[in-house]
Amino acid sequence: MMIRGTTRVFGIFGHPVDHSLSPLMHNAAFRALGMDAVYVPFAVAPVRLGEAVAALRALRIAGVNVTIPHKETVLAYLDEVDAAARLIGAVNTVHNRDGYLVGYNTDGTGLIRSLAADLAFDPAGKRVLLLGAGGASRAALVALAETGAAWIGVANRTRPKAENLVAEFRDHFPGTDFAVLDLAASALAAVCPSVNLLLNGTSIGLKGEVFDALPWQQLNRAAVVCDIVYRSPDTPLVMTARSRGHRATGGLGMLIAQGEAAFRIWTGQEPPAGVMRQALAR
Ligand code: ATR
Repeated sequence: MMIRGTTRVFGIFGHPVDHSLSPLMHNAAFRALGMDAVYVPFAVAPVRLGEAVAALRALRIAGVNVTIPHKETVLAYLDEVDAAARLIGAVNTVHNRDGYLVGYNTDGTGLIRSLAADLAFDPAGKRVLLLGAGGASRAALVALAETGAAWIGVANRTRPKAENLVAEFRDHFPGTDFAVLDLAASALAAVCPSVNLLLNGTSIGLKGEVFDALPWQQLNRAAVVCDIVYRSPDTPLVMTARSRGHRATGGLGMLIAQGEAAFRIWTGQEPPAGVMRQALAR
């Protein structure tokens, strides 16, 4: 595709950003639709984030994704932050509407879409065991509670972080019961028989690490397993789950779904089906 005077520019702010798969996904979608648009990675140092956001207006960049380490700090520089993103406290998508910058979070909606598309799972009325209490888990907890999960148990290595996370959202979601659990086999064994979804929001598995605190024998045989971690080939968690007969998916579906949601926000168009996934498969 030719870049010319009319080409609309999109991109991603991260630090580092060189391993991001988002340029592949979005440029493939633009190409498939014949759009006069391009998606560029921008390595933005933390101290430069304010200037980089101001540059969106100055350069009329149409939209950016925001990734580590800027997802939380970027909120302060935006003109408006969508309700879900405000609740999560993190923005991964910025839309430039004629110089008025609006922030969204498509990680949570991406997770819910991936659960539906990849696992045929709807969290409404279901019991979820959430491993981890960092940023990824936070977005997951909000999305699951908003979708009507009946119970969310949060287990984290550093227990006070799980307690703080639950304390923050308990009153906001009266329709969901919350529990804080130790990230230990003995504590998880008690809840595993009634769990419908096991969700990993920790970074365990990114480098092939194995979860040793999981009492697989106790896990409800019909439970589905989702690992927010994306790894190729699959994480040990996903491989073990499948070998034990559970439906399981890694973070690829969520990565694609958050990208597709950002594409809809920026362009008002439906991303071409399967194109982002095919771009990553190559
Ligand atoms: P992210 O924004 O990707 O969620 P994060 O906020 O740093 O990243 O959170 C990482 C999560 O993975 C945390 O829940 C962390 O547990 P702690 O709060 O105890 O640090 C969890 N985590 C990372 N490495 C871990 C390990 N080796 N064992 C258990 N939990 C781990």
